Amino acid sequence: MWRGDAQGRYETYLVPRRKSQTVLDVVTFVQRYLDPTLSYRFACRVGMCGSCAMTVNGRPRWTCRTHVDKVAPAGRLTIGPLANLPVIKDLAADMRLFFEKWQQARGAFVPSRTRDDAIERISPDSKARTLADAAIECINCGVCYAACDTVRWNEAYLGPAALNRAWSLVNDQRDAANPARLQAVAASGGCHACHSHQSCQELCPQALNPTASIAGLKRLTMRAYLKGEL
Ligand code: SF4
Ligand code: SF4
Ligand code: FES
Repeated sequence: MWRGDAQGRYETYLVPRRKSQTVLDVVTFVQRYLDPTLSYRFACRVGMCGSCAMTVNGRPRWTCRTHVDKVAPAGRLTIGPLANLPVIKDLAADMRLFFEKWQQARGAFVPSRTRDDAIERISPDSKARTLADAAIECINCGVCYAACDTVRWNEAYLGPAALNRAWSLVNDQRDAANPARLQAVAASGGCHACHSHQSCQELCPQALNPTASIAGLKRLTMRAYLKGEL
C-alpha cells in the first residue's frame, strides 16, 4: 500500500481474508487495526459518491465495489492513489485539477429561463434528451481521468470526465451557454486532443462512454468551425 506523498513508497501489510471482502474493506482494516495514520477517502461504500477510487493492481477502480476475490485471487494487492493527479498523502489524490478542468469545460448548467418562466417540457424521446441521458450518470470518480494516456502526456488536456459532462450539457436544450462551451472544448487541450484510445470507456465503473461523447464534441465543433461560428 502506498505511503507518503509523491516521494513515498509501498509498505506491506497482512490483512485477514473475509467473505465478500472489498478492496475498501482491506484499506479500512489497515487504517483501523494496523496504522491509524493511513489517509484515504470514501463516503457511501455503495458506488454512489465516487470518492473511493484508487489504483488497484495497476488499474483505477472504485475500491468499495471491487471484490478482492475478483482482482487478487492469490491474495496479493498493490493499492496506490489515482494516477495523473498529485498525491496529497498515502491513498488520497488531490482532485482539484480534475474539478478545475470540469469548470474549464463549462461543466455547470446555465439556465436559459428564470424561475418566473414556465417549466420547459423536453420530450424523453427527443434525440438531444437521449444523448444527454447517455452521458449524465457520471459521479466524478476520476477513474477515467487516471486511465487516460492523453492526460498523462498533455497536462492541459481537459480529460474524459469534463468533456463527457460538456457533451451532456451541449445536448441539454434548457442550457444557454453552448457557444462559450463549444469554444472551451474546441480550444487547445480540448476534445481534439483525444486519441480515442477508449481506456476511459473500458474502465468507467458507470459503464459510460466518454469516447463517444468526445467524438460528438469533435463533430459539433468541426461543424461550428466550418460555419464560421468558432
Ligand atoms: S465518466 Fe465514469 S469513470 Fe469518468 S468520472 Fe464519470 S463515472 Fe467516473
Ligand atoms: S478515448 Fe480520449 S479521453 Fe478516453 S482515454 Fe482515450 S484519449 Fe483519454
Ligand atoms: S465509497 Fe462512494 S463510490 Fe466508493
